[in-house]
Amino acid sequence: LGTLAGCIGQLSGSDQAGGREVPPRSTVSAEPDTSVTLTAASGTIRPAPETSTTNWMYEGRFPGPELRVQEGDVLSVEVANELQAETTIHWHGIPVANPMDGVPNVTQDPVAPGDTFTYTFRAEPAGTYFYHSHVGLQLDRGLLGPLVVEERDPHVEYDREYVVVVDDYLPGEPELPSDGGMGDGGGMGGGGGMMGDVRPPYEGLLINGRLPADPPTFEVTEGERVRLRFVNAGSATVFGVRIAGHEMTVTHADGRPVEPVDVDSFVFGAGERYDAVIEATNPGTWAVQADALDGNEPPATAVVEYESASGESPQRPSSASNRLQYGDLQAISSLDGVSGGPDRTFDLTLSRGRGQSYTWTIDGQAYPDADPLQIRPGEHVRIRMTNMSPVVHPMHLHGHFFQVGNAIKDTVIVPGQRGQVTIDFHADNPGRWLFHCHNLYHLDAGMARVVRYV
Ligand code: C2O
Ligand code: CU
Repeated sequence: LGTLAGCIGQLSGSDQAGGREVPPRSTVSAEPDTSVTLTAASGTIRPAPETSTTNWMYEGRFPGPELRVQEGDVLSVEVANELQAETTIHWHGIPVANPMDGVPNVTQDPVAPGDTFTYTFRAEPAGTYFYHSHVGLQLDRGLLGPLVVEERDPHVEYDREYVVVVDDYLPGEPELPSDGGMGDGGGMGGGGGMMGDVRPPYEGLLINGRLPADPPTFEVTEGERVRLRFVNAGSATVFGVRIAGHEMTVTHADGRPVEPVDVDSFVFGAGERYDAVIEATNPGTWAVQADALDGNEPPATAVVEYESASGESPQRPSSASNRLQYGDLQAISSLDGVSGGPDRTFDLTLSRGRGQSYTWTIDGQAYPDADPLQIRPGEHVRIRMTNMSPVVHPMHLHGHFFQVGNAIKDTVIVPGQRGQVTIDFHADNPGRWLFHCHNLYHLDAGMARVVRYV
């Protein structure tokens, strides 16, 4: 604490150049342990036998290829842009060095059509992450994929694992509502209203790129402990997740280990991840189901099938009774630099813009015409958010983990109708970082700020 206080003292002087306790994280120059190329191009997907549509994809796959490395490995990813549009890749949740963060016009120039760009970073800490384009609405066109950083020494025992990417499925080109989604229910999917919200006209909900008509199967053997790494890669959907016939033991929130907690369901917003272990002690064929909390699509579905099962159709989960709450989450190790009172506090309201056009604002300002949130290296920063709109906002901070309650996360749902959430983080990764709603349509309509170290 003494050091921190000293550092703040120094920094409050006019000389910004000297006395930084926290230097910018330098870009990794070591030889990569893993090098991959992700070619971004348009192609055709078949999320169910009778359904095909044009998508934008990495390596012709949707979701994009799973990247899997060991904690501490240097990962090098070249993106080759074969789209007719500029693109970038963001490593959602990993506190990379600022120039590797993939935010167009903030941390890099976007990658032009025909060009390549190489991202190199040390993959740490271990956890369940994903990667996605950070340009416009490209995430909702399919430019996403899972990224797993394996523990060298897992605190949770398991025999096998599956990555479960939950997504909302939008064929064709995503766009913002043209009329602001207000008034007569025009724009995306209707049902607007002055302070309300709209979802794009999703054609269904996906697990690992499959519609419920052709769900992915997770094979298990009786007696195994099975780790499921859930990623909400949706663009505008809060999902409620359940599994028939099994309790889930939640072991990680946004990749960070928590004291194990047993639940029968959890809710997660765009950008959040949970790892859960199930014990395979109930032979049969069981549905994993992710329902849109604010939509009418049939639930995204996968099937847990025991080796011994005889191929009967999967049993559906019953209604949830013991749903995970943020208050249940207790991080296993605490976050450095956020004990005691904050050095700097931001009080921010989240709300719909008032103008004719479709905008979403943080404290009345819509990005990119919005003031940066200025912080100094080494500070303990607090952000208090109050949601003045009726819809939830899953708020995501780049480059840092934050503490919320007793959990450590990088994305948190701020409930509608004056919901309030406070996050605390340690300013230990200098640069310019985006802080934004992970509902892609809110982000694209302005619900973002740059957090800038000065
Ligand atoms: Cu997945 Cu700016 O984030
Ligand atoms: Cu939002």
